[in-house]
Amino acid sequence: MNNGPVYATYESCSIEIPKPFLLVIFGASGDLSQKKLFPALYRLDRDGLLPRNSCILGTARTAMEQSTFRELIRQSIEKALGKDFDRKAWDIFSARLYYHSGAYDDPASYTKMKGIIKDLEQDHQTRANRIFYLAVPPTVYELIIANLGISGLSKEEGGFTHVAIEKPIGSDLASAKQLNAVLRATFLERQIYRMDHYLAKETVQNILMFRFANAIFEPLWNRRYIDHVQITVAESIGIENRAGYYEKAGILRDMFQNHIFQLLALTAMEPPSVFESERVRDEKVKVFRSIRPFPPDSLTDCLVLGQYEKGTDGSKEVVAYQQEKGVRPGSMTPTYAALKVHIDNWRWNGVPFYLRSGKRLAAKKAEISVHYKGVPHLMFSRAMKEEIEPNTLVIRIQPDEGIDITFQAKSPGTKICLSPVNMDFSYRKFVALTDYERILLDCMQGDQMLFIRDDAVEQTWSLLTPAIEAIETGSEGLTLHAYASGSEGPADAAALLRNDGRVWRPL
Ligand code: NDP
Ligand code: BG6
Repeated sequence: MNNGPVYATYESCSIEIPKPFLLVIFGASGDLSQKKLFPALYRLDRDGLLPRNSCILGTARTAMEQSTFRELIRQSIEKALGKDFDRKAWDIFSARLYYHSGAYDDPASYTKMKGIIKDLEQDHQTRANRIFYLAVPPTVYELIIANLGISGLSKEEGGFTHVAIEKPIGSDLASAKQLNAVLRATFLERQIYRMDHYLAKETVQNILMFRFANAIFEPLWNRRYIDHVQITVAESIGIENRAGYYEKAGILRDMFQNHIFQLLALTAMEPPSVFESERVRDEKVKVFRSIRPFPPDSLTDCLVLGQYEKGTDGSKEVVAYQQEKGVRPGSMTPTYAALKVHIDNWRWNGVPFYLRSGKRLAAKKAEISVHYKGVPHLMFSRAMKEEIEPNTLVIRIQPDEGIDITFQAKSPGTKICLSPVNMDFSYRKFVALTDYERILLDCMQGDQMLFIRDDAVEQTWSLLTPAIEAIETGSEGLTLHAYASGSEGPADAAALLRNDGRVWRPL
């Protein structure tokens, strides 16, 4: 029998099909499971990227028959995929879906689950390869992890056992350390997959290829040529129905500690010696260690916070954050932040990184823009009235994934007239795996490159926790600036750059 890897062709790429596995999803009745996980698993299966002898066991407290569970999942996949839903592919996929209901804190439920797992492994020949996916609120993470340990389910029994855990990993440094300690008491670091779906976005993965597989960009990627960098993750949606979570989180915990700091690390890191999970993760942690701590007593110099007021989302009128269902009256939770970051190392000394993210902004847009310095001598200055704009390189993460470079070119006809032109590469014509398809596949294949290591989580929390504590204890001078829904954000965020003689790229 050939035990070597099996590959499938997907959009002209060769993708290794994972070994057979059993996936247990905790919180299978929930929002993330239905919106992201099951649609991604269905698509992987439909496209021939899952081994036929794999199976999925959903688990949650809600009591329901297996047929009811399958029907719930069918409806959510159909809703997510619309006309791309294929009945035949569903029939094949659904035959491998199972459900077990039980309380997360009841040891008897884990004993019963162990029996179900053994039976399914026998029926589907999954060779004791197991993945436990925690798609539950963070308050239940430690309970589930501890019970997986007590029941012996965390042990590898001839196959692999991985545990996948959703963000947030803690809500501050102490809680992140506590959760990491609980994880490490039960699993080895090589078994732990801390998710950050931003790392699985096609353009985000491309940052390293773009920087390190081309000879023409990297020599200019440093303080000698770059004036500053902007990282933007703007959303037009509000908090939707997640007030319970968001009121405790706010924008810094929800977007900065994870997604935005990961984008920063990929932009600023040194080239690893090999493109290998641990080496890439080492380099990212070095960036976090080089970030200058934010001074809690003069946060206003580097941080602007905001909260959305009523306004519009396209042509639709939308309410203020304070009027969202579940938000406390007088809530001081920030829904917008702009942060100036300094990286104290040879490459980046003196180059500020401006980070911003917010809900209910003018557009859904995520991008990294690298703003180069102007030319050293303006030989056109006598002939031209206007200033020449410096070059920019923009990595568009979403929507319209791609890269564009703006440079000056002579306008045809006139004697001396320069205007900025764009060189644009777009991923639009390529079909790629969605973020959740990519991370699920990597977790099945045992590739930890796109997952966050314990030291990275703790390093980012150690940077942000003092700032968050200062905000939450009402640090002097820090104000929550109101901004209209559908706008570019608070005016004071513009001032953060204006004071440095710079401007944000428009959303
Ligand atoms: P849900 O609130 O939908 O919870 C998932 C399931 O967990 C529920 O169906 C419920 O199942 C069970 N549950 C809910 N509350 C409790 C509780 N207090 N105690 C025990 N069990 C509970 O969460 P999401 O699916 O939205 O999120 C799951 C995880 O994924 C969270 O950590 C979240 O931060 C993260 N995440 C979610 C995203 C999203 O878009 N939803 C995006 C990125 C990350 P039952 O009652 O049947 O047991
Ligand atoms: C999640 C945040 O991690 O990312 C949400 O909790 C946010 O608040 C979401 O809306 C954004 O993800 P994406 O992929 O839609 O940009």
